[in-house]
Amino acid sequence: MLETIQQTSDYLKNKIGEIPNTAIILGTGLGELANEIDNKTEIPYAEIPNFPISTVEGHSGKLIIGTLGGKRILAMQGRFHFYEGYSMKEVTFPVRVFQALGVKYLFVSNAAGGMNPSFDIGDIMLIEDHINMFPEHPLRGKNYDELGTRFPDMSEAYDKKLRMMAMQIANEKNIKLQHGVYVGVQGPTFETPAEYQFFRVIGGDAVGMSTVPEVIVANHAKMKVLAFSIITDLGVPGKIVEVSHEEVQEAAKIAQPKMAEIMRAIVQKI
Ligand code: HPA
Repeated sequence: MLETIQQTSDYLKNKIGEIPNTAIILGTGLGELANEIDNKTEIPYAEIPNFPISTVEGHSGKLIIGTLGGKRILAMQGRFHFYEGYSMKEVTFPVRVFQALGVKYLFVSNAAGGMNPSFDIGDIMLIEDHINMFPEHPLRGKNYDELGTRFPDMSEAYDKKLRMMAMQIANEKNIKLQHGVYVGVQGPTFETPAEYQFFRVIGGDAVGMSTVPEVIVANHAKMKVLAFSIITDLGVPGKIVEVSHEEVQEAAKIAQPKMAEIMRAIVQKI
């Protein structure tokens, strides 16, 4: 595993030159943030040694190096979901590569169903914490001490300083920013009304099929994490309607520019 990570990181180092301190994972319907990246170099995942290939619609699957608000960043347009059949090691492989490259900050975005009754479709939720409901853990198995400790602390999985910055920027820019707990599930089914209710009762504000594995590995790697959910549908009693992947993509697309604005402002400050 260590050699594979090294091989990919060496390949990228050659291609990228100076390594940015921030990497951004763009979620479903959020790939358009890539349009705001200037001086772009794009590397399709298929060309990156050892990278899995994304299959889901709405994820074009490439690594982008460029500048956002004048600062160099790395961005993943398209991520690897557990429901696609990838192992947890594959899902989180890009984060390991970022770690090997020396990336310090990981920004993550996703589309999610909102269970908090005060949420509306199109809201942005700053993730404050998560509940891991995936059936497998990305750190299960042999621990490589070079990568991180056997029993990682998760008391501040989403960096408090970055969260404070996000709230301040949203406030300054008059962007409505919700905050709450993200429940990570494997999918690919959306939730039944009873499941949404269950995830609400256990403390969740939003539910989605990604992010948690990457955030766990980023914490293992001691990277600082900032993450946002775009609320694309509601799992609130009385407001639950049939939901499709297309609607999720559409709702995410609409909220995307506001999230990009917050991310850009933070990238400029770190
Ligand atoms: N549930 C799970 N994943 C999701 C949802 C949802 O309601 N919306 C977008 N991704």
